Amino acid sequence: MAFVTTDDSSNPPAKTDQAGTPLVAFRGITKVYGEGMAAVRALDGIDLTVEPGEFVAIMGPSGSGKSTCLHLIGCLDTPTDGSYRFAGVEVGALRRNQRALLRREYLGFVFQGYNLLRRTSALENVEMPLVYRRVPRRERRRQAQDALAAVGLQGREHHTSAELSGGQQQRVAVARAIVTEPALLLADEPTGNLDSTTGREIMDLLTGLNDARGITVAMVTHEEAMAAYAGRIVRFLDGRIVADEKRVADPEHSTSRRPEGGGGPSA
Ligand SMILES: Nc1ncnc2c1ncn2[C@@H]1O[C@H](COP(=O)(O)OP(=O)(O)O)[C@@H](O)[C@H]1O
Ligand SMILES: [Mg+2]
Repeated sequence: MAFVTTDDSSNPPAKTDQAGTPLVAFRGITKVYGEGMAAVRALDGIDLTVEPGEFVAIMGPSGSGKSTCLHLIGCLDTPTDGSYRFAGVEVGALRRNQRALLRREYLGFVFQGYNLLRRTSALENVEMPLVYRRVPRRERRRQAQDALAAVGLQGREHHTSAELSGGQQQRVAVARAIVTEPALLLADEPTGNLDSTTGREIMDLLTGLNDARGITVAMVTHEEAMAAYAGRIVRFLDGRIVADEKRVADPEHSTSRRPEGGGGPSA
């Protein structure tokens, strides 16, 4: 893949992979923080596979390892043990700069706290990843405008983050994450700071991107109502996966009991 070479021009990044290759394949992934008596086994030998096009919700109580899992998928941290293949490539065998390239070319991140530059316009926030990619200014502007339109923020391009509501700020953060057309969008509690109505709007946006653009999504949440938008729910407890359920996404009935026959596994 592109990030294992240094010559981008002759070998452009492939955004889709050969059929049958999972986007994410964890085998026996373990993450230990600290040493000796203070060591914390945040992930305890997990196997996890995510196929292209999936929308996976990662659930579990506080401290169960959800964020650690997402950070490892996102190559923001390295495992203590185990194998991680991204689109067939062994991540542990990549050099640091190759991992950075993988992150830049293939992954998008959305966090609970938006992580926008406060006194900077929505447009400039969304352009930021393109600056790192050395996209020329006019092209950068056009792509950022398209991304902001895709999240429903046309007309708000020149507002600073401080002038936007929480829901709007999270939309800017989603636009910043998708402006590079990532294969995989990683979201850690993206609705955690939002009221449930605004949270649902963000979930509609993420599921729309998953459907319309085929962006694979892995999202951490502790809210069943938000997880109900996903086609699959993986549940963590004490650093282990205790349930992994494929399902029919059913946001309408997420807060009530599922109707008879409405919750079977997807075909
Ligand atoms: N950087 C870190 N240093 C030490 N311990 C950590 C660090 N990050 C997470 N942990 C510990 O690892 C465990 C899993 O944390 P985390 O993945 O953040 O859980 P979750 O996101 O499910 O709340 C917790 O016990 C947490 O305290
Ligand atoms: Mg967390």
